[in-house]
Order: sequence, then structure tokens, then C-alpha cells
Amino acid sequence: MQLKNDLLLRAARGEAVERTPVWLMRQAGRILPEYRAVRESLSGFKELVETPEFAAEVTIQPVDILDVDAAIIFSDILVVPEAMGCTYEMIEKRGPIFPNTIRSEEDLRKLRVADPHEHLHYVLDAIKITKRALNGRVPLIGFAGAPWTILAYMVEGSGSKTFSHARGMLYTNPRLAHQLLRMITDTTIAYLKAQVEAGANLIQIFDSWAGILSPAHYRQFALPYISEICNAIRNVPVTVFAKGAFFAMEDFSKLNCETIGVDWNMEVSKVRQQVGPNKTLQGNMDPCLLYSSFETIQDETIKMLKEFGPHRHIANLGHGVYPDTDPEKVKCFVQTVKEFSPVLRSEGV
Ligand code: CP3
Repeated sequence: MQLKNDLLLRAARGEAVERTPVWLMRQAGRILPEYRAVRESLSGFKELVETPEFAAEVTIQPVDILDVDAAIIFSDILVVPEAMGCTYEMIEKRGPIFPNTIRSEEDLRKLRVADPHEHLHYVLDAIKITKRALNGRVPLIGFAGAPWTILAYMVEGSGSKTFSHARGMLYTNPRLAHQLLRMITDTTIAYLKAQVEAGANLIQIFDSWAGILSPAHYRQFALPYISEICNAIRNVPVTVFAKGAFFAMEDFSKLNCETIGVDWNMEVSKVRQQVGPNKTLQGNMDPCLLYSSFETIQDETIKMLKEFGPHRHIANLGHGVYPDTDPEKVKCFVQTVKEFSPVLRSEGV
């Protein structure tokens, strides 16, 4: 189906765009009262993720309410470990818990490389329903966690400040870590290919815990697997967002992907220098900007647009929007990009 608004895809591919496209990481859920109303009508987060009609509904809410240029399918990166046989629970206000962690060869033997059509069909169904309901209004983003970030949760068993069990495994049992990364990567490639077949127009890989690895470990345990995923998904644009991986920007320039995510700790001009002219950059407003006044949001957003320039930029935050953000402030961020990026273009900024 022909898309009515394909700014995101054109910007990703480096084609000319009349204005900078804008969306927000974690826009589906978290901040909208309309999302909470749907979730509260169900038993919880997991039922919402696993019920395609509801997942599609909350995927489309930010397109209707926030007026963003893309939808991202409502799901979670943790559906992949679950499909592999490592189930999680989502504890209200605390986050995910894995009752059975993967810390030995014996634990690993209980896992499988998942078949997306068998074990993740609910996500594929949600994508199909969403595509039909969107009717070409905006592109739909599919996603998965990067193998290192998924390993971090499977080994640690929950969120953590240090992920010391997961990082420890890279020293104490690197062979086991690579075996687990292999299984996660194979599952992820099949899963992302199935998302594209179901209708996803762009794929984003979230490496949320990239920044806790040393550059050497990142090159050994994270990059090769991300690179494999990028090489396998070649019929839609791919975005790699690795939080805190300022040390890997030059490595990312060599990946077979269209867009690199930039967080707010990184200097835009330096990142551009490191990745060169052939990648689109996505980001990178500090999510805390959205706690400030409408006027400050406008000023800082315009500053960000100038920093990135008009070409090869997708406007976004530098990480997911925080749960206590006022949706009106998000609308201000989105509208500022929409109004001022054409003005800056006409002024040649
Ligand atoms: O972008 C979107 O809005 C699409 C949906 C989406 C969710 N999770 C829904 C969700 C996406 C893309 C994710 C990715 C995700 N999940 C990441 C990578 C991105 C990042 O923020 O770094 C990570 C690390 C997770 C793991 C996860 N899921 C955690 C740590 C938590 C608990 C805390 C939180 O809210 O982030 C979740 C729960 C979760 N995933 C919620 C939502 C809307 C909140 C659940 C609720 O209370 O409704």
C-alpha cells in the first residue's frame, strides 16, 4: 500500500524531505491516559502485549493524539527471551523479572531458537491489524532488542545498575555468552524478517545497555551480532540505537544500516564526523526537556534542528519518553519540529 506520509523512510534512506520527520521512542504507552485506560481494562501489561487487537489500538493512539510521523508496534524487547523459553513477569512500578535466569550450560540447554510464526505470532498479528487500521497514514516501525541487551536481562534476571552477573559472564564464561548470543541472534533475525513480512516498514534495534560495556567487550560481544542482523534485514531501512555507545560511532558507520540513534550525551557535530555523511542520525533531545516550559521546549528543539541540519535527520528524544511527561509537552516538541524545520530549510540553515 502506498504511504501517505513516508517522510521517515525517505529521511532514513537519505532522500530529500520537505521537513524533518519526528516520533518518540516509547511513545506507545507510558504517557497517555488513553493507554492506561486500555491497560487497566485488562489483567496487565502482558495481556495487552499478547492481545493483537489491543496492541494495535495503543500503537495507533500516539499517531492520533500526538500527531507523530510514525507508529511503533506496541510490544516489548522481552518477548524474545520469552519465546526462547525464558519467561518474564512485568511487576508494576518495578519492571521486568525473570524467575529463571541463564547462568550455566544446563540453563542454556533449556532454551530454543524460537520460530516467530509459532512463538511470536501475536506480534505478527498485531502488525497486520495495525497496518490495516493505519491505512497508509504513517509508516509502522518494528523492533527488537540487540542481542547483548537481551542477554543482559536473561542472565541478570531483572533490571540492574551494574548488570554485574551479565558483564561478569563475559569474563568468566565467554563461550557460554557467545552461545547464548548466537541463539538470541538467530531468533531475532527470523523474528525481524517475519515482522517485515507482516508489514513493518522500518526496523529499529534497541541496544539499551550498550553503554555499560567496555569498548573492547562491545566489539567482541555486541557489534558482530548487530552487524549480522543488519546484513540479514535488507528490504527495509534499519536503525541501530545503542544507548551510551559514544565509543562505537565509527564502528557503526560501517554497519549495513541506514540510521544511527544518538542519545543526549553525545555531541551531534562529533557524531556526524565519526559516522560520516552516509547515515541518517536520529535523536537526540534529553527527555527531561519535556519537563520545562513550552517556550524552553520550542527554543531547545529549534537549537537541536539547527545542530543536525536539514538532511539525514529524524527528530526524536535521546531515549524513551519518561512516564510522568505531560502529553501536551510532547505535542509542543512534535509541533515545533513540524513548524520550524521547513522554515529553517527556507532560510538555508
Ligand atoms: O516505543 C514504544 O512505545 C513501543 C513499545 C515498547 C515498550 N517497550 C513497551 C513497554 C518498546 C519499543 C519497548 C522497548 C524496551 N523494553 C526497551 C528498549 C528501549 C529502552 O527504553 O531502552 C527495554 C530496555 C525494555 C524492557 C522493559 N519493558 C522495562 C525495563 C520495562 C519497565 C519499565 C519501563 O516502563 O520501561 C518495560 C515495561 C514496558 N514496556 C512498558 C511499556 C509501555 C510499561 C509497562 C506499563 O506499565 O504499562
